[in-house]
Amino acid sequence: MSLLNPRILRFDSIDSTNLEAMRQARAGAAEGLCVVAREQTMGRGRLDRSWQSPKDAGLYFSIVLRPRLETSAWPLITLMTALAVRDALLRSSGVRADIKWPNDVCVNERKLCGVLAETVDTKIGPAAIVGIGINLKADSLPPTVYDLATSVEAVAGVKPDSVGVLAELLKAIGERYDLLQSPQGSEHTIREWCANSSYAFDRQVRVALENDTFEGTTRGLEADGALRVETAGGKMRFVRAGDVNALRATR
Ligand code: BTN
Repeated sequence: MSLLNPRILRFDSIDSTNLEAMRQARAGAAEGLCVVAREQTMGRGRLDRSWQSPKDAGLYFSIVLRPRLETSAWPLITLMTALAVRDALLRSSGVRADIKWPNDVCVNERKLCGVLAETVDTKIGPAAIVGIGINLKADSLPPTVYDLATSVEAVAGVKPDSVGVLAELLKAIGERYDLLQSPQGSEHTIREWCANSSYAFDRQVRVALENDTFEGTTRGLEADGALRVETAGGKMRFVRAGDVNALRATR
């Protein structure tokens, strides 16, 4: 998918770029439609959380995809997107980021970006709405997340050029999405994700599921992107939802 000259809907303020992309997809928007806002009043995160989106503090972006993938491979869209964000941050700002399963892009264990992929049924078939929130400015993170989050500005030491970040993001999504949909694309994406995430192998983690918490050691990904975690008792568990956190900062 070429995103060289995409259709971009820009808003000063909107409830959520994901919600707007969903509305556009239901109205028949073609693959590649992008929504960007300077501010979100109802920014959404994973697991029904909210995403603080103060004006001009971050990049709030969503794209409509109409993947030609087996349904079982759709969770890989999140992993592919985290890889694309990583590429874009490196190319635009020189920031070398880690990826935390499934969708957080982090530097020094602090979150720089979150990805929220949602699906929606439309008259012309199912669509994936991929939302990306990148913390750009250092001074606008809410105090509640000081210890957990960081920004491109704090990491790179200079004010980020949001136009440049978006341009690299569009390029990287186009490339990574094409790779995902190519023959052996799922295997390639999983390999790339594992090569670029310190969480893929041998990391001691705590996994918080809706009704259960357990600890173990990461052992790579399943074909659908689920994280394999081996418990102390030697049982392999496959994580498809919930939160994964490292028990130690470094390996
Ligand atoms: C997460 O880490 O929980 C995912 C956060 C995703 C936030 C982005 S900001 C742009 C897009 N619109 C939303 O409402 N959410 C995503």
